[in-house]
Amino acid sequence: MMLPFLDSNLIGVDIGSASVKIAYFKGGKGSYTLKAAAYSRLPSGPDAATGKLPPGFISELIASNGIKGGKVCALASVRSLSFSHISVPVMPENEMKEAVKWAVRKETGLPPDDLVSDFTYTGARKTAENTVPVIAFSAKKSEVDGLMALFKDSGLEARVIDAAPTALLAAFDLNNVWEDGVNYSMVDIGATKATLVIMKNSRLMFAREIPFGGRELTAALAEGLGMEESVAEEYKIAYGLNPPEGADAEARRLLTLHLTGLCRELHRSFDYYQAQFREGTVARLFLCGGTARLKGMDGFITETLGIESFVDDPIRKVSIPAGFDKERLRLIAPCMSIAVGLATRT
Ligand SMILES: Nc1ncnc2c1ncn2[C@@H]1O[C@H](COP(=O)(O)OP(=O)(O)OP(=O)(O)O)[C@@H](O)[C@H]1O
Ligand SMILES: [Mg+2]
Repeated sequence: MMLPFLDSNLIGVDIGSASVKIAYFKGGKGSYTLKAAAYSRLPSGPDAATGKLPPGFISELIASNGIKGGKVCALASVRSLSFSHISVPVMPENEMKEAVKWAVRKETGLPPDDLVSDFTYTGARKTAENTVPVIAFSAKKSEVDGLMALFKDSGLEARVIDAAPTALLAAFDLNNVWEDGVNYSMVDIGATKATLVIMKNSRLMFAREIPFGGRELTAALAEGLGMEESVAEEYKIAYGLNPPEGADAEARRLLTLHLTGLCRELHRSFDYYQAQFREGTVARLFLCGGTARLKGMDGFITETLGIESFVDDPIRKVSIPAGFDKERLRLIAPCMSIAVGLATRT
């Protein structure tokens, strides 16, 4: 039986410090069709504060991708967003939100009337009897209101505000079969930060933000090679870890030096996860975000960590109608994982 077409899908919007990503689908889980996928770099030197987006940026991007308007699931890309692992006493579902709010209030020190919080249950083991482990998200209400207003001004309605870890889980879930008991990891490496998640049996197990991003790599090249930032950025994108024939090895040395720092943090997180949560090793690591496109990145991480690492393609299970530029989609896909995860939320 054909049901009347009911478009309940949300437009996934990931506003980062360097770019805006949009994903929009038709259909439902297992049968998604792409309606729109957009990646647009922000003009140079923008700030993570979404209020500083050029006016009209979102509405023009939406319109130029054939989206007439609608309801949005947005990444909570506000400066004050933080997430933490906490254990909350077992209590009725409807009291959990308040309890989490209490707990994060103590942790963040944000005044209660300027605090919004949410949480997701994790699959982690209980740390004590009669408690439930959750990952709590919190942000300043004023900043989240500013984000909602930005969408309103763009002719859109922000229905859901989500955090990167749950969006990554959703993107992974769309594309993969969960092997029982296997720990998978995903890391979104953007311009200013990296978000790491560990997942198992369809659940989020661990999430952490690492202060590393592509800007650090560009700055290292600019300083080390005496280049303008814009030249260093082009050099980084053109060659990555595979410098041209005959070039001296300094660029690669600088990049690997900084990437080794990232790998150290990833390694520490996996170690912590295994020890603290009494869990097994991470079997596979998926890389996404703009910095995952660095040439040679997956091989370098696989080798350094000894964990099979892949560049993510979050739309590999989505059907792509004729008319889309497949080559462009292939290029932007690794940057789209969070937006794709957002677009599958209901
Ligand atoms: N082909 C490429 N090779 C190497 N680095 C790249 C490539 N393409 C983009 N980048 C880097 O990716 C970064 C931007 O990634 P992305 O668009 O995911 O950032 P963002 O989501 O806006 O940032 P953040 O999440 O940190 O706020 C920049 O540092 C850019 O230099
Ligand atoms: Mg990002």
